[in-house]
Amino acid sequence: MELIAKRKNKEIFADKNTIVKLYNEGHSQSDILNEALNQSRVEEYSNLNVPKLIEVGKIENRWAIISEKIEGKTISELMKEDSENIDKYLNLFVDVQLAILENEVPLLNRIKEKFTRKLENATNIDENTKYELLQRLQGMKNHQKLCHGDYHPSNVIVKEDGAVYVIDWAHVTQGNASADAARTYLLFSIDKQEELAEKYLNLFAEKSGIEKSHIQRWIPIVAATQMTKNIPEEQEFLSKWINVMDFE
Ligand SMILES: Nc1ncnc2c1ncn2[C@@H]1O[C@H](COP(=O)(O)OP(=O)(O)OP(=O)(O)O)[C@@H](O)[C@H]1O
Ligand SMILES: [Mg+2]
Repeated sequence: MELIAKRKNKEIFADKNTIVKLYNEGHSQSDILNEALNQSRVEEYSNLNVPKLIEVGKIENRWAIISEKIEGKTISELMKEDSENIDKYLNLFVDVQLAILENEVPLLNRIKEKFTRKLENATNIDENTKYELLQRLQGMKNHQKLCHGDYHPSNVIVKEDGAVYVIDWAHVTQGNASADAARTYLLFSIDKQEELAEKYLNLFAEKSGIEKSHIQRWIPIVAATQMTKNIPEEQEFLSKWINVMDFE
């Protein structure tokens, strides 16, 4: 098989028809099994195009998730290669996110519970801020929309025939569309794509009919959940966002 990507905690291999996500030894086994279960729940209970789960197992002492390979280009690649048409790809990107959010997949973790647990366990956020963020989170309505949780152009593959597939379901939950949009906004911002982040937010608000200010109220919360990952180069940037508490 060919190595197609290398990350801190895993390598990704491909052959003609399959993709193997091969995790480093010592990576949390429950996280890996949870990712496979999440992918499988989305495959079974949503109307979306997602890669079929083929196998979960061990290869030389390392856990592997084996899935169907989707032949095509990610929206990230298309945005880079064909940057004149970036607006067209951003439109498609938002339309696909809205199509995801139309689904309901029972049994997935609830976003408010997941975020509450993360914030309560955070050791790098001061207690006052934590308290305020938890209050705000509790005040948010309970929704059951399918939230990808890591929705970014590198996780959407467009086939030659135009069919669109969404990959990388490790962080999927059920919950609030605004939280998922705030997370996407933050992913663009962390990547230093501020202009695209703003364009995305305006377009998502327009197409979803959700007030932009409502999505922005989630930004400090999602920034705080990202902070708990403790990635050194992100900490300063994230603390700025966490402290923008005044979106009313
Ligand atoms: N089923 C698939 N078919 C085709 N390509 C895939 C598939 N799964 C993963 N890839 C490719 O491998 C890359 C990384 O896979 P994935 O998104 O699942 O892992 P990741 O750890 O989240 O990586 P990233 O940091 O890029 O998001 C994708 O951006 C895509 O290019
Ligand atoms: Mg990915």
